[in-house]
Amino acid sequence: MRKKFIAGNWKMNMDRAGAVTLAEAIVKKAGDFPGVDVALCPPFVYLEAVQKVRLGSPVALGAQNVYHEAKGAFTGEISPGMLRDVGCKYVILGHSERRDIFHESSADVNKKLHAVLAAGLSPIVCVGEHLNEREGGQTMDIIREQFAGSFSGLTAEQMQKTTIAYEPVWAIGTGKVATPEQAEQVHADLRKLIEVRYNAEVASAVRIQYGGSVKASNAGELMAQPDIDGALVGGASLVADDFLGIIAGCR
Ligand code: PGA
Repeated sequence: MRKKFIAGNWKMNMDRAGAVTLAEAIVKKAGDFPGVDVALCPPFVYLEAVQKVRLGSPVALGAQNVYHEAKGAFTGEISPGMLRDVGCKYVILGHSERRDIFHESSADVNKKLHAVLAAGLSPIVCVGEHLNEREGGQTMDIIREQFAGSFSGLTAEQMQKTTIAYEPVWAIGTGKVATPEQAEQVHADLRKLIEVRYNAEVASAVRIQYGGSVKASNAGELMAQPDIDGALVGGASLVADDFLGIIAGCR
């Protein structure tokens, strides 16, 4: 049985005081949901502040991005070892905002994925189609292409340690959530891709989160789908009660 996994992607929001207050509110209640893995992914500069709050709690720390090199002359970048050093367990890779705004390709994501796994961190790798691609009936072509490029060269063991986040770009921050049926279809097809490349055992072990306008009000029906194993949450992760409501929706 895959344990549900809810991660909050705070993106470029919060100040230090807000980050601490939000983390405290979530940590206080996180013990109520032992059946769900929870992670908070604040901006790099607030990782340590949130780490102090979550230490000793079941809430894990995650980062929103990383660079694939271990160290050196890469001004402005952060390495997987540095993230581990400040207490991170998870790293989000290939978010559509990284792919679209910062021109990250699946090949870039793949380099980061290998570096993150080599550093002993757990990656959350995002895939998802744009609206025109969905409307053009290309959703699975895009997903297949992103899967092939972003996940290339992983051993079965590495694949099982990797969480996939299916995030239709048209649903991110728009309030337009995919229907449970639309999401489940892609999740099931993604699991099939894993099965074809590895085997049924690996496919059934990989957690696939849904992301895109997840709220407390729609989490329950999404999480009830057989191939949806949690959520990567943006906007609703910035308000403690909203985020806790999504975690509660996993039951
Ligand atoms: P949203 O963002 O929940 O605000 O739609 C999701 C994401 O970008 O991961």
